[in-house]
Amino acid sequence: MKTKRTNSPEETKHLGFELGLLLKDEEHVVLLLDGELGSGKTTLAQGIAQGFGITDIVNSPSYTILKKYQTPVDRRGFYHLDLYRLSSIGDDFDLEEYIDGNGLVVIEWPFQVEELLPKDYMLIKIKKSGVSEREFEITCVGFPCQRAVSYI
Ligand SMILES: Nc1ncnc2c1ncn2[C@@H]1O[C@H](COP(=O)(O)OP(=O)(O)OP(=O)(O)O)[C@@H](O)[C@H]1O
Ligand SMILES: [Mg+2]
Repeated sequence: MKTKRTNSPEETKHLGFELGLLLKDEEHVVLLLDGELGSGKTTLAQGIAQGFGITDIVNSPSYTILKKYQTPVDRRGFYHLDLYRLSSIGDDFDLEEYIDGNGLVVIEWPFQVEELLPKDYMLIKIKKSGVSEREFEITCVGFPCQRAVSYI
């Protein structure tokens, strides 16, 4: 487990950027972002996308559940999911299709569908520790990301 702190949205994006760079060459990673409303999940995801090589603007997927992006250079997939409203959508959404796929899958509000989550993932718990201070607790569950995380 590794803990990081940031003091602004820009610092959070930078932390995300570093993470995205580290995960860029992994074949398939599921990254769960857990934290209350406004804790910075989307802000972090925007940095991760940039570090991963996405050049499009990554917005909150709240109203669409899922947004797909692709790196222009090597066409790797970046999937940004927000499951906040999933319970009201029911079983129509096939999360497993994306989770079993390739590329980097970043999920906000992942524990809405706990039973669908894979057994290997990277988890980032975000806590608001001040008006603009955030704490990020990074753990690797099953997925061997300890070495990568030690570089952050
Ligand atoms: N250190 C920080 N890191 C990230 N965001 C911060 C920080 N300090 C203040 N903020 C503010 O907190 C908010 C974070 O919003 P963001 O959309 O990233 O949160 P979220 O966790 O995705 O929320 P939601 O649960 O609604 O999806 C923004 O308004 C941002 O400006
Ligand atoms: Mg969000």
